[in-house]
Amino acid sequence: MNLSFKDKKALVRVDFNVPLDKAYNITDDTRIREALPTIQKILLEGGSVILMSHLGRPLEKRNADGSINKEKFTLNHLTKHLKKKLKTKVHFADDCIGKSAVKKAAALKPGEVLLLENTRFYEEEEKGDPAFAQKLAALGDLYVNDAFGTAHRAHASTAIVANYFEKGRKTFGLLMEREIANATRAMNNPEKPVTCVTGGSKVSDKILLLEKFLDYADNILIGGAMAYTFFMAKKGAVGNSLVEPERLQNAKDFLKKAKDAGVKVILPKDSVCADKFAADAATRITNSNQIPNGWMGLDIGPSAARQFAGVIRKSKTVIWNGPMGVFEMAPFAEGTKTVAKACATATKNGAFVMVGGGDSVAAVNQLKLAKKVSFVSTGGGAMLEFLEGKTLPGIAAIEQ
Ligand code: 3PG
Ligand code: MG
Repeated sequence: MNLSFKDKKALVRVDFNVPLDKAYNITDDTRIREALPTIQKILLEGGSVILMSHLGRPLEKRNADGSINKEKFTLNHLTKHLKKKLKTKVHFADDCIGKSAVKKAAALKPGEVLLLENTRFYEEEEKGDPAFAQKLAALGDLYVNDAFGTAHRAHASTAIVANYFEKGRKTFGLLMEREIANATRAMNNPEKPVTCVTGGSKVSDKILLLEKFLDYADNILIGGAMAYTFFMAKKGAVGNSLVEPERLQNAKDFLKKAKDAGVKVILPKDSVCADKFAADAATRITNSNQIPNGWMGLDIGPSAARQFAGVIRKSKTVIWNGPMGVFEMAPFAEGTKTVAKACATATKNGAFVMVGGGDSVAAVNQLKLAKKVSFVSTGGGAMLEFLEGKTLPGIAAIEQ
């Protein structure tokens, strides 16, 4: 982030797509907090900041009459919080382009911030419309992309806008730099042994990630419902557990590839099973390949959790993406908790531990272990795609 910001207006794309409660209070401001250093650096250097972001998916979730629900999706919900955090003037423009945005951007003084309205109020945003991107670009002298969480989208404000700033007038923000540096450290020549832990419900969501892990992992631990597709592929009895029959061949192929590559794949020996998908279900522990009909695996069992934790604690690099069970329900949270604690122990023992991608991040936050692992990503889908080895449009736009 080595541009000179003095007396410049920096157009900064952030991912302020944060969760809000029914009264529009921010329930988790991680993404905002993590973007503050970038904003503060620009302000301290004597520049001003024009912030743009999306919030939610307003075009999908319209009012009954087809209009956009501006009350729900306005970024103005964040203005007060930003003022408090930045301790400076934060203006709000109720349109991200157009006369008022232009006027407010022009009037912005060094040290001040302008927050633009939700870029997704325009369908041109998601379409990556060049004319719309050009209007956004006209608001600033420099462009900073710090929206790692949205870097996998080729949208107007995340990627196309960068075409209107030549080299030397665009850069990554500090958050983006941190995300890229940490994920790269985990993937490129990581210190061995390397353990990749993955979970979540579907093999289809994670198969590309699993295949990429074969490039550098020593151990791959598979929890979550996706494990049952693997057990079924190995002719185990999985009862009523969630499986993807159309992914059985993928699962078989993956196990074969792992064997050929000398990578150890560990599936959970046992499972916490339930007679229904509910927090008050009857539960029992069974072997994961001997689940009776009428029962479904909703968490890795205690033996599996111990085994997973042991492998994690002995690793020098750990990448964790995806929960081990339905951790939102207390009876099925233990596996994820045990893995999270083992990640904290491994970090303490000197390992590099990165947690990335949505639900596992929520789990680490819920357990208050976020500060006890080496790095927690702000990206869900973006981190998943980065780890899959894909080129993210928001990154390519700055690098090209
Ligand atoms: C996210 O939270 O996943 C990012 O902000 C991107 O949002 P999207 O999934 O609606 O594109
Ligand atoms: Mg998403």
